[in-house]
Amino acid sequence: VECSYFKILLVGKALNSCHATKPGMLNVHLVPHTHDDVGWLKTVDQYFYGDRNDIQHAGVQYILDSVVDQLLKNPDRRFIYVETAFFYRWWKQQTDDMQNTVKQLVNEGRLEFVNGGWCMSDEATTHYSAVIDQMTMGLRFLNDTFGHCGRPRVAWHIDPFGHAREHASMFAQMGYDGFFFGRLDYQDRNRRMVAREQEMLWRASESLTPPMADLFTGILPNGYNPPEGFCWDQSCDDPPIRDDPDLEDYNVDDVVTRFLHIAHGQALVYKTNHIIMTMGSDFQYENANLWYKNLDKLIRYVNQMQSNGSEVNVLYSTPSCYLQELHRVNLTWPLKGDDFFPYADSAHDFWTGYFTSRPALKRYERISNSYLQTCKQLEVLGGPISRKGPFGAGDSETLKKAMAVAQHHDAVSGTEKQHVANDYARKLANGWAHCQVLVSNTLSSLSGSSAPRVYCEHLNISVCPLTETSKKFSVNVYNPLARPVSWPVRLPVNGTAYIPHSIPTPPQVVPVSQATAAVRRGRGYAVNELLFQVQAPPLGYSTYSVSLLQNGPPSPPSPLPRAPTAVQNKVWVLWYNASDGNNSESIQMSGAYIFRPNTSTPFIISKTAKIETLQNSVVQEVRQWFSPWVSQVVRLYTDSRALELEWTVGPVPIGDDLGKEVISRLDSSINSSGVFYTDSNGREVLQRRKDYRPTWNLRQSEPIAGNYYPINSRAYIKDDKDQLTVVTDRSQGGGSIQDGSLEIMLHRRLLYDDVRGVGEPLNETSDIYPEGLVVRGRHLLSLSPPAMAADTHRPLAQEFSSLPLSQPYWRRFKFSGLQAVLPPAVHLLTVSQWDQDTVLLRLEHQYQASESKEHSQPVTVNLQKLFSTLDMLGVSEMNLSANQWKDEMTRLDWKAESGTHHTGVTNQLCLLSPLGCVKTADLL
Ligand SMILES: *[C@@H]1O[C@H](CO)[C@@H](O)[C@H](O)[C@H]1NC(C)=O
Ligand SMILES: *[C@@H]1O[C@H](CO)[C@@H](O)[C@H](O)[C@H]1NC(C)=O
Ligand SMILES: *[C@@H]1O[C@H](CO)[C@@H](O)[C@H](O)[C@H]1NC(C)=O
Ligand SMILES: *[C@@H]1O[C@H](CO)[C@@H](O)[C@H](O)[C@H]1NC(C)=O
Ligand SMILES: *[C@@H]1O[C@H](CO)[C@@H](O)[C@H](O)[C@H]1NC(C)=O
Ligand SMILES: *[C@@H]1O[C@H](CO)[C@@H](O)[C@H](O)[C@H]1NC(C)=O
Ligand SMILES: *[C@@H]1O[C@H](CO)[C@@H](O)[C@H](O)[C@H]1NC(C)=O
Ligand SMILES: [Zn+2]
Repeated sequence: VECSYFKILLVGKALNSCHATKPGMLNVHLVPHTHDDVGWLKTVDQYFYGDRNDIQHAGVQYILDSVVDQLLKNPDRRFIYVETAFFYRWWKQQTDDMQNTVKQLVNEGRLEFVNGGWCMSDEATTHYSAVIDQMTMGLRFLNDTFGHCGRPRVAWHIDPFGHAREHASMFAQMGYDGFFFGRLDYQDRNRRMVAREQEMLWRASESLTPPMADLFTGILPNGYNPPEGFCWDQSCDDPPIRDDPDLEDYNVDDVVTRFLHIAHGQALVYKTNHIIMTMGSDFQYENANLWYKNLDKLIRYVNQMQSNGSEVNVLYSTPSCYLQELHRVNLTWPLKGDDFFPYADSAHDFWTGYFTSRPALKRYERISNSYLQTCKQLEVLGGPISRKGPFGAGDSETLKKAMAVAQHHDAVSGTEKQHVANDYARKLANGWAHCQVLVSNTLSSLSGSSAPRVYCEHLNISVCPLTETSKKFSVNVYNPLARPVSWPVRLPVNGTAYIPHSIPTPPQVVPVSQATAAVRRGRGYAVNELLFQVQAPPLGYSTYSVSLLQNGPPSPPSPLPRAPTAVQNKVWVLWYNASDGNNSESIQMSGAYIFRPNTSTPFIISKTAKIETLQNSVVQEVRQWFSPWVSQVVRLYTDSRALELEWTVGPVPIGDDLGKEVISRLDSSINSSGVFYTDSNGREVLQRRKDYRPTWNLRQSEPIAGNYYPINSRAYIKDDKDQLTVVTDRSQGGGSIQDGSLEIMLHRRLLYDDVRGVGEPLNETSDIYPEGLVVRGRHLLSLSPPAMAADTHRPLAQEFSSLPLSQPYWRRFKFSGLQAVLPPAVHLLTVSQWDQDTVLLRLEHQYQASESKEHSQPVTVNLQKLFSTLDMLGVSEMNLSANQWKDEMTRLDWKAESGTHHTGVTNQLCLLSPLGCVKTADLL
């Protein structure tokens, strides 16, 4: 069966799968849909089966059963489905007959996939690498199962709490024709309604040549809910359509009148004679008969009025059918160049807390992405033995799925219930275990040694049982980047002197700090750390062997001759008292989503710290102990391009019955004039201005929370002479409240729910920290002239999010999967087994236009001579999500209003499209 929608695009004529519309009328597109969170109040598995309905009544398997059944009852009906994580589970359990039936529905456009990633990702706290992976996984399942008829045309982020420009750019490069969402700042929405600018063209990159990153973007009228009074789910109380005139409760006239009124009202705030209504909501359609029976009637009775002069035409529709109509109208659309952060739904309700909520989960998610990239690379480099080898059966699939689920807008965002957060972490840990077998298999195959390997996953708190107890061990350091890296490694040890082998700088032994000993809580006993600089080849590993020279009491570290006091005085750890809702302006409290300090002046935890300094040939270190629950280490490694700040925060005290939101603040003399910069999903950087939004006149009502933005990998302030850049190891929120100052929220512990549905205070504890979670992390600080800054912070951010992972192991060996180092501007984003003989490769130009004199230029890469162990037999270029061949990729073209203010620079630089910026002339 041919796919109807596809035909339309090819021949551009009458619609098969989209219902006809009426040119002279107001056409109301009803879109039946369900919003199925891939975990939130319940785990993803509980949601699928409908388990724990005492927490929330929701069962996705029943939704899909019921919807398919109802679609078959009336060919006019339509449904869209979004989250492939759920659909995939359901599909696996269906009979061949049912699968064929569903294929038929998809081919006829009656069941349409929109978005189609594994989940609907969060936009503030996700890293682009993990988002591309999860989209690829969902879209691949759809293509493998349904072919081109299953390819979603529309991106659909109806629930995420603010929208990132990088997401829009990725969607454009994934071939989507348009994008719809539900949430934006209430002031922005009001202005757009009046100006009829709720549908626009988002130019989502300053570097890509239009229309490469242009995305038509529409704001839905009621979030993603049905208009008031028209919810016919079993979970709703609105009156059904009672259409027997013999009965007393006959209400058709009333329903039709109310509907026409709403439709006319909505038409006033949109530009065309087409409007969209989302008919559904969270986990609706479990008993789809209720919805469809009433929608059938609504359509019949409203359209009947046409014979009496009504000019409203209602139809079953889908987002792509609606989009198609908007495209036909052939209008020009306002241009949007910035993003949709921060999101406020009322004057004191800024959703900027979740940028930092659950910092330990956010870090675990980030390193899991790094480990997944390593795992996928070693699956390719090792070949079949990686999946079945001396250490047993390993796979990358388990971690891929766990990571894909973790991108959901209630997962890495930190806005789920505690038991659900635990489930995400457990799934990741299970994925790590599967990858560890794979990695061991590959390393043993590459090195010829099947000696057992131990993974040190807790080096962050100086715990690694093997190095602590062994007199002799070797360390493998794997580098997933396509250029060599040099990186300091710290291993917990009990001895005081070690003989290094093949280590360029002599290893140093430093005592474990008091703060580290305290956070370990009995999980390790090493008294020292062995510290040395490692070098690892691109896409490869090096091995360092170490043996104990002598034992004895640790030699006292030499104190620094001059402690870098400048640094000490410029870095503060402070906290905001969280609002408890007891406030004259608004009763909103701080919670998992919302940041609402009860004062604009943060509290300095302590102006004086207990200080210890030490210095050796590898590092200078200042250890600051501000209070029993806040400490910090300032480190400067020899040869390093940046200063490292390692913060440790927790258990945050709550004895005063006040929640606390802890920040690190850097104060400098930089004349930043109210401007600072943050990255979008780890890629392009956007300018932020205090108390200002580029597209509307802001009435600022929260001087701190209203100036917070998501930071995924870096933020900076600058003036003509200096730029201060902070690179983060996870997603965090931050702002620049005073000129010259940059603050980043590290940890938050809150005692109230913020009434956005999660129903729990964000009051994290764990088995190890029952009195309150302790979290440790790092910032890298670099100070350089603005013109040189990107050359430092781009590679630092890449390294920081792909830290070499260490594992002790015996045989000495060095290996690189690359024959040639890639140019500094190029990041090897993906190396992943695609099917038996093919590998998916993504090369990314990692510099933004005009950001670096040297590196913001187009680059040529010779793929033929890239890998050391793979033969390149041919190359085919795909879109960013790898679900379309590049030469088959056609997108609807949209025109921007002339004269719309856009400041974006465009040049020839090609970012992110896989191989897009690479001239393949040298090939074959
Ligand atoms: C149309 O108007 C006529 C006359 O007013 C009325 O009898 C009829 O019921 C109306 N039809 C509908 C569908 O309302
Ligand atoms: C769209 O409008 C432009 C003028 O803005 C016109 O030149 C063009 O022919 C129109 N295209 C279609 C398909 O109507
Ligand atoms: C490590 O050294 C400390 C102090 O010398 C000692 O108490 C402890 O037992 C040692 N631990 C191990 C595992 O060797
Ligand atoms: C936070 O609340 C505590 C306890 O009431 C108080 O001592 C402290 O001064 C407050 N800090 C700020 C910054 O308001
Ligand atoms: C927060 O967690 C602590 C430790 O488990 C507990 O004692 C306290 O009651 C909790 N507070 C709230 C408001 O949940
Ligand atoms: C240390 O890292 C592990 C993950 O490897 C994480 O679970 C844990 O929360 C981290 N510890 C601290 C104190 O941040
Ligand atoms: C999509 O799937 C079809 C088979 O269903 C396959 O022929 C095609 O190559 C796939 N497209 C891509 C881009 O992988
Ligand atoms: Zn949601």
